[in-house]
Amino acid sequence: MAIRQNFRGRGLRVLLVLLVLVPVVVFMTLVLQKTRDLKGLRDSEASSRIKTPSKAGLCVLKRDCPEDSFSFFIRTGAANVIAPRICLQNQLVLGVVLNNAGRGINIVLINGTTGGVLKTGHFDMYGGDVDPLLEFLKSMEAGSVVLMASYDDPSTRLTQEARQLIAELGSSAVKSLGFRDNWVFVGGKGASASSFEKLLKNNNNNKYENWPELIEIQGCIPRYLG
Ligand SMILES: *[C@@H]1O[C@H](CO)[C@@H](O)[C@H](O)[C@H]1NC(C)=O
Repeated sequence: MAIRQNFRGRGLRVLLVLLVLVPVVVFMTLVLQKTRDLKGLRDSEASSRIKTPSKAGLCVLKRDCPEDSFSFFIRTGAANVIAPRICLQNQLVLGVVLNNAGRGINIVLINGTTGGVLKTGHFDMYGGDVDPLLEFLKSMEAGSVVLMASYDDPSTRLTQEARQLIAELGSSAVKSLGFRDNWVFVGGKGASASSFEKLLKNNNNNKYENWPELIEIQGCIPRYLG
């Protein structure tokens, strides 16, 4: 009798322990798991935020381009203070950190077939001379693509001849490009060349007193097929 009671008492204790401990252990495991997941998420978020600024970090595109095309991003300068930026395939190819941007018309010339960069630089259209720009435009070969961005003033020294040569690359805005207008353009030489363009006039609606707001353009340049 005594043995049976003792046995029953021990069975109850075991049952109690199981009923209380097992849910507690399961609950604690779940809580710990959840905490680890959240912490992992926070850590990965933080590390993507704090990523050191790279050349590519300045060129984040909102969409991918089809295989047979090259992605680009162009931003004009802001007033006469912040230099413009030109990116190709998510890589910075013209900008202040590369020391190849400046007042006037900024250019990147690429091989439209391979996407390789052939030339970068800027032509000062305020204090400079138009001749180097004319020389550059006349030397462009069929199958090459040019990306352009204004900075400060792209137009004072721009002659009709230069405007005509740029118009032949696919620009329509270049004809009316004026003092301190902001302008971004992609165009090319050759039969299948495509073009992209935006213009923001310097006028009474300026964001900065004497200059309009900066503008951007991005897209995919189809590979040149001849
Ligand atoms: C582009 O690169 C290809 C291959 O190297 C070459 O044959 C072609 O002439 C180049 N075109 C331009 C416009 O540079």
